[in-house]
Amino acid sequence: MEEKKKDLLRRLTIISIPFVFVAIPSIVIIVGMLSPHAAEPRDAAAEAAVPARNHSVSMLSTMTGGQMILSCRAAFSGNWEYFHYFILDPYKPQRAFFQPAAEPYAILCKWGYMGNFLQDVVVFNSSAAYAHLCRVDEGGCRYLFQDGHMFLVTGRHATMAAPAHSREKTLVGDVLLRDCVHVLGVFPTVCRYKPHDNPYVGKIIGRWRWWFNY
Ligand SMILES: *[C@@H]1O[C@H](CO)[C@@H](O)[C@H](O)[C@H]1NC(C)=O
Ligand SMILES: *[C@@H]1O[C@H](CO)[C@@H](O)[C@H](O)[C@H]1NC(C)=O
Repeated sequence: MEEKKKDLLRRLTIISIPFVFVAIPSIVIIVGMLSPHAAEPRDAAAEAAVPARNHSVSMLSTMTGGQMILSCRAAFSGNWEYFHYFILDPYKPQRAFFQPAAEPYAILCKWGYMGNFLQDVVVFNSSAAYAHLCRVDEGGCRYLFQDGHMFLVTGRHATMAAPAHSREKTLVGDVLLRDCVHVLGVFPTVCRYKPHDNPYVGKIIGRWRWWFNY
């Protein structure tokens, strides 16, 4: 008698498995698809509601000694992740978009040009006063490298529709440049840092640190 009961129970369990794992989920999915809310995925709706989260940084170099490189990472929540690698030919701007994933959020770059290297060049800091100007709907943040200086250009040109708009160009600091002298071709090349008027925009690092470290 006891054996029969156990056997029946086992059969019932086996029969119920397809219901639990196939029939019930199918019903849930079908009902979900038929429901009037199914057409609008909630995540997309939430994203669309916050266009203010879309930010951009642009880079432009007018220095004609060669390509300028900025290797950038985003730092947030005690961690960091790769952001963007800018390779700038003179007079060819590049733009990269981002959505700050946390608060505070910063973007720091390693900068390289003609064998000169800097690290920790900050191009976005959510705690800084200019941060909201980096939003796409405010025009984004544009960095201009010109005659050894780094400028931040923000805002938009005034138009008939929006006469209140204005552009601002502020100096961030100077970049590292060297003068090298080839003495008679016999002695090693002698280089010295060019004099500069403003603080450097980052910390001076060597080629080795540039390639192998953040
Ligand atoms: C951010 O804005 C740019 C330019 O309008 C657009 O191409 C890009 O898709 C936007 N990114 C997001 C995640 O909304
Ligand atoms: C961002 O700005 C805040 C406030 O000015 C400052 O304390 C912080 O050090 C900055 N972060 C970076 C990475 O520059």
